[in-house]
Amino acid sequence: MPLRGKNIVIGITGGIAAYKIPLLIRLLVKAGANVQVIMTEAAKAFVTPLTLSTLSRNPVYSSFVSEAGQWHNHIALAHTADLILIAPLTANTLADLAMGKAENLLSAVIMSAEAPVYVSPAMDREMYRYGAVRENLSKLKSFGFHIIPPEEGELASGLSGQGRMPEPETLFAIIRSHFKQTQALKGKKVLITGGPTYEPIDPVRFIGNRSSGKTGIALAEAATQAGAEVILITGPTTCLPGNPPYTVVPVESAGEMYQAVKKHYPESDILIMSAAVSDYKPVDVKSSKIKKHSARLNIELEPTPDILAEAGKMKRQGQINIGFALETDDEKKNALDKLKRKNLDMIVLNSLKDEGAGFGYDTNKITIIRKDGQEKTYPLKSKHEVARDIISEISHLV
Ligand code: CTP
Repeated sequence: MPLRGKNIVIGITGGIAAYKIPLLIRLLVKAGANVQVIMTEAAKAFVTPLTLSTLSRNPVYSSFVSEAGQWHNHIALAHTADLILIAPLTANTLADLAMGKAENLLSAVIMSAEAPVYVSPAMDREMYRYGAVRENLSKLKSFGFHIIPPEEGELASGLSGQGRMPEPETLFAIIRSHFKQTQALKGKKVLITGGPTYEPIDPVRFIGNRSSGKTGIALAEAATQAGAEVILITGPTTCLPGNPPYTVVPVESAGEMYQAVKKHYPESDILIMSAAVSDYKPVDVKSSKIKKHSARLNIELEPTPDILAEAGKMKRQGQINIGFALETDDEKKNALDKLKRKNLDMIVLNSLKDEGAGFGYDTNKITIIRKDGQEKTYPLKSKHEVARDIISEISHLV
């Protein structure tokens, strides 16, 4: 029952194919999904909000403010969705999304969404072939949208050609198979590390780094969604959700992280080491606060354990170890070197030279390099989408 309990947002824009959506909603609701409809004003000419709210058993939203003057929080709508489908997608809304215009509730929800977004463009044959439409669609694709290509057949204009929105049963099958695919790690135990480490200098100071912990959290979410049993060992972060559906082991220092990994690694199938572990720690941690003096202060540092390299030594047959490499120079060479040195099956490389990648951003641009030499570079995406890409790549290894 892959759809049971899933929150599906359906966006409807003003095209004749909107008449097929009530049937799709019925199929989704029957399969146990919670369906939330957002429609543009233009869509109301093709299908009524009353039909849609009756079938979805939920209010239908179309503007930022309800008739009663209540604000519809597009951020909340965007964040609770497990999947968003815009069907039909008109050339007009397509252009808005490609340009990043948040003029109506639907486009604002899409722009705030972290869930995967599927779009089903439907228009006349010539419109679908038009240069700007083609360009906008490839832009959406590069933003990480899933494009459902229109089918060939008879069109509302009387012409025939490519432009028809697929039948509700086909759209339903696409949504269902999305959730089936995401169960690829069912039965697997996944150990993830994330966040920075803090290496104490004295009771009030530490050596840390700029990692927010978001990547580790996004990976834990994506692996849980893929059906895995997840333990997230994380350094200090303020980004953890309340009541996460996975086990959280909070740690502070590299040493504590090493102990936690050593404890949980033997029974794990997959280790994903996304933590930004400090390579050095103060040799002598003062028990009282260091007082200010006019003379220079030297803090002597010693190396911390290389957790991933140690796990690489402990690795048994069938275990999969994944590392990260955040580089500024000679990116690929360094990543390949780490892959070998730490006995990894896959390494996720991100370069600080790429704009929008690395610490402090909600986005990232990665290249995944596998042990067998296969490599794949992805466009700049949200950290949630990046996490899903990584998990999907891992599911090919298990
Ligand atoms: N790592 C680790 N323990 C450390 C340092 C790093 O487990 N003490 C892991 C990181 O979580 C990451 C991978 O090793 O998955 C590479 O980390 P990175 O800091 O890029 O590499 P280093 O081995 O520390 O090498 P350098 O800092 O010289 O680039």
